[in-house]
Amino acid sequence: MRKNIVAGNWKMNLSHKEALSLYDSLKTNSNEMDKHTTVIVAPPSIYLSEFSKNKNEKIKLAAQNCSENENGAFTGEISASMLQSIGVEYCLVGHSERRAYFNETNELLKHKVEALLAKAITPIYCFGEVLKERESGNHFEVVKAQVSEALFHLSAEAISKIVLAYEPVWAIGTGKTASPDQAQEMHQFVRRLLSDKYGEAVAKEISILYGGSCKPTNAKELFANQDVDGGLIGGAALKAETFIPVINGF
Ligand code: 13P
Repeated sequence: MRKNIVAGNWKMNLSHKEALSLYDSLKTNSNEMDKHTTVIVAPPSIYLSEFSKNKNEKIKLAAQNCSENENGAFTGEISASMLQSIGVEYCLVGHSERRAYFNETNELLKHKVEALLAKAITPIYCFGEVLKERESGNHFEVVKAQVSEALFHLSAEAISKIVLAYEPVWAIGTGKTASPDQAQEMHQFVRRLLSDKYGEAVAKEISILYGGSCKPTNAKELFANQDVDGGLIGGAALKAETFIPVINGF
């Protein structure tokens, strides 16, 4: 059975004090969180080490990005082995903001995924079309390229260790959520791609999260879809009062 997962991407938000207070409040209230849902938070990387030292079993930690390189002269970068050394278990890869503002390509992301898998960190591979691509009816082609170019060189065993996150760019931070049907349609499409390449047994074990203006008022109807295995949450993950109801949206 594939996992239900709700991950909070804090992006470049919250002061040290605010971040600690949110993390503490999530830990304090972790007994209210659905036992069957894996809960992950991805704070700015500067906070990861401290959070990791004060971990709570229920809340897993993710980085928002990592280098594709192993180590060396790459000023400003953080490697997968550094993340591993402080107990980080997940890492976002290819968020649309990184694709758009840091020129991350499918080819580059392929190497980030490999670097993480080599250190036993689970990549949460993000993909999704921009508005123009959806309006012109190209969204399936775009998603197919994003998923296949970065991931389909992997073995069945390796791809089974990855989490996918469909985040239509037009739904991120806009308050405009994909409808449950639009989310299900794309998730089903991606699962079919996985199934065509790796077989149904592999495809059905891979969690595919939805992200884009997911909040307490719409999480239930999104997560009710057969191929939607949880969410990658931005704005609503910045407060325990909104993140916990999303976690409990199954
Ligand atoms: P919002 O939930 O703020 O739309 O952000 C989604 C997102 O980008 C999560 O990675």
